[in-house]
Amino acid sequence: MGDAMSKNDRETLIAEQQRFKDLTQETHTPVQVVTKADPRANRSRKNLIAATLGIAKRPTWCQEDCAPGEEAPAGEAPSGAEDAAEEEEAEDAAEEEEEPEAPAKEKPPLSDFTVKKVLGKGAFATVYKVTQNSTSETYAMKVMDIRDLKTKGALARVIDREKPVLEQVDHPFIVGLMGGYVSKNRVYLVMEYCPGGDLKSVLNLFRLGSFPEAQARFYTAELILALECLHQRGIIYRDLKPENVLLDVEGHIRLTDFGLVKKGVENPDFGAESFLGTPLYLSPEMVAKAGHGQATDWWGLGIMLFEMLTGDAPFQGQDGTIEGLFTDIQEGDIPLHRGIHPNAMACIRGLLQKDPAKRFNSSHLRDHIWFASNTPPLAISEDWDKLLGKDKIFQPPYVPTIKSDEEPAEGEETRETEGSTETTTKKEVKEKGGPCGIM
Ligand SMILES: Nc1ncnc2c1ncn2[C@@H]1O[C@H](COP(=O)(O)OP(=O)(O)OP(=O)(O)O)[C@@H](O)[C@H]1O
Ligand SMILES: [Mg+2]
Repeated sequence: MGDAMSKNDRETLIAEQQRFKDLTQETHTPVQVVTKADPRANRSRKNLIAATLGIAKRPTWCQEDCAPGEEAPAGEAPSGAEDAAEEEEAEDAAEEEEEPEAPAKEKPPLSDFTVKKVLGKGAFATVYKVTQNSTSETYAMKVMDIRDLKTKGALARVIDREKPVLEQVDHPFIVGLMGGYVSKNRVYLVMEYCPGGDLKSVLNLFRLGSFPEAQARFYTAELILALECLHQRGIIYRDLKPENVLLDVEGHIRLTDFGLVKKGVENPDFGAESFLGTPLYLSPEMVAKAGHGQATDWWGLGIMLFEMLTGDAPFQGQDGTIEGLFTDIQEGDIPLHRGIHPNAMACIRGLLQKDPAKRFNSSHLRDHIWFASNTPPLAISEDWDKLLGKDKIFQPPYVPTIKSDEEPAEGEETRETEGSTETTTKKEVKEKGGPCGIM
């Protein structure tokens, strides 16, 4: 791609900017979200941004008919929001003494944001790179059209899952939520912008579409800590795939897209019943609709690790049908791949155990020899906590090249993921990779 933006890209950008401008004309209400202490030094910026956006500690999910900043009246909160609010109230009370209340600042109007680029389009959402005009800060804004979410369950995806979980969790490897807006037709989540893009796009930049072993190990280690953090809070993620793992400016991962999470799941193999996820990454117990628990996420990590090392998911079915794919997931052997080191392969085998009760979890992984292998200057296994630390002992193996706003990176395309259905073929599954079966 040359210096100038192509005509098509420019026209697309102008159309999106106009679309966004039209959206901001709707009546909308800023919603407050909770932010917590920042465990890594380079994220203290997040607290500053939170103050700028006027984020307070109490979560308030306002509906359109509230005045800006006003809490939704009791009994009128969207389904599930009250429960979430109660849980959070208890947590907030516990934290009240440790953290000083962030000063309440006026929330910027939605019209204070300008679209710079479309970062991704999925089944329910469009994610924009936006700049806040008054501060020149850059964010990612996820806009979900709730008119199209026909069922209550689908609406719950936004109201009950994505927003409350992002509020509840503050972890260096999980994307930060900065604020939000809601209108009758749309929900807007303002998140920290991860300029490295998602791991699927990064994989495509590498020769052979796969990562060197040390790089795959580094991302796997950071993902283990992110999943551990969710599981410790009884949250299962259920949509682990490279498209949902972003890279920050330094090359650390940030897990995003919490639309399929389930709260209150403490066990490895039960606690959740729904059938959802992205076909290539579904665990055998999910495919069997036999109930699932935390182990379903460790399966997803196994698939992702195989994909990071080889460029392809291990189970794809023989005949291009979704039934063939599901049979392969339940019965197929992990394909032999000469390029994978035996220690890495042992890790994959542990993660891709068909029986969730026998599958590796984070304690197996923390002690696994693969993480004791050379990762200069220190093997990860010697001190996992240093991965989270400020001392930066573990430098990311790859630092993203950041291009200017108006110039899409070489070969870069707006990611489009569509919701797949049970009749999706393997080809479609591979091309679209979108979530299926919203409960
Ligand atoms: N904070 C961010 N910074 C940079 N890029 C992002 C960010 N959030 C999302 N993206 C890009 O947008 C894509 C889609 O985002 P996300 O996964 O949140 O939405 P989705 O898959 O459309 O959501 P849903 O599954 O809820 O419909 C990601 O794969 C990534 O490429
Ligand atoms: Mg996604």
